[in-house]
Amino acid sequence: MAAACLVIRRSLRAGQQLGGRAAWPVAPQANMSFSSLSRGRRLALSTIGVAAAGGAGLLFALHNSVKATDLELHAPSYPWSHAGYLSSLDHASVRRGYQVYKQVCAACHSMDYLAFRNLVGVSHTEAEAKALAEEFEILDGPDDNGEMFTRPGKLSDRFPKPYPNPEAARASNNGALPPDLSYIANARHGGEDYIFSLLTGYCDPPAGVEVREGLYFNPYFPGQAIAMAPPIYNEILEYDDGTPATMTQVAKDVCTFLRWASEPEHDDRKRMGLKVSLLCGEDVGFLTLGGDKSNSSPKILITENRLDVVHHYLCSLLHEETSVVRAEVQEVGL
Ligand code: HEC
Repeated sequence: MAAACLVIRRSLRAGQQLGGRAAWPVAPQANMSFSSLSRGRRLALSTIGVAAAGGAGLLFALHNSVKATDLELHAPSYPWSHAGYLSSLDHASVRRGYQVYKQVCAACHSMDYLAFRNLVGVSHTEAEAKALAEEFEILDGPDDNGEMFTRPGKLSDRFPKPYPNPEAARASNNGALPPDLSYIANARHGGEDYIFSLLTGYCDPPAGVEVREGLYFNPYFPGQAIAMAPPIYNEILEYDDGTPATMTQVAKDVCTFLRWASEPEHDDRKRMGLKVSLLCGEDVGFLTLGGDKSNSSPKILITENRLDVVHHYLCSLLHEETSVVRAEVQEVGL
């Protein structure tokens, strides 16, 4: 350090002696540009660069995947039968899933945005959905005397809530609010994969981890301590269709039901996608034919006619969809 100071002082003095101005010593410039290196060196340097970047990436990935202190598990992606681009929901599973919701989850979770009429044509016939609605006593009114009254449920009624208000829900659940399940499959990262893992993933906490009373250890839940007691187990209910109600079957069915609830247009969306891609595919075929120089003009004419037909067909499809929506809106009386 002292030697370095001495050198600087000396060079300053030298600067004063030369013209009275201190000039920074200029280091001799080596020509270090990448292009000036020999081919072999360039190759070696590039290889080292790529290897270093790859190594850093690998270290980062390992660091993220093997954190010994992190107890949270990420839900794997399960092979749902509705996962394909053209796969519809398994409607028998949606039907069983409703039964699980009704007999298990509905004790704590509301589904405010679903009405009994939504089940018609999806999992139940109209008569069945009507009978399901009639099982409930719905508070209605006021009547002509200003009194509230109860009546059997109707198709247009929403699913009844388990608690009259969020405070009552919290009071019965150790202060935690069971979320409304209408859109839960969209509202949670991982959707049905996450819910399935959550429902089936309860286990004992690892050694040294304490879970407060009234909370349960679940490695899939953020924070790992959830206020929902394990809600399902083998044979928790008996399915109407005779399917053995194992824990995983029950979880799968309720997840399929929750996916449908979050996305009732699931099947229509895929059906529409198929129609449009088929039509576009056909169309591209015709356009290719039409554009070929060896083909004479009538082919091009066909293409134009074809486009007209496609256009009309798509318009009629859209019209059909909008009239269905309009009919539904009228039915609800909006
Ligand atoms: C005894 C009451 C009770 C029952 C029955 C119950 N839950 Fe829960 N559930 C809760 C409570 C309370 C929470 C809030 C937990 C928290 O925030 O710690 C919850 C949270 C959830 C969550 C959200 C988890 C998150 O990521 O925030 C899902 C999904 C869920 N329950 C699904 C179900 C399903 C499906 C069923 C039926 C198979 C069911 N629950 C049955 C009380 C219940």
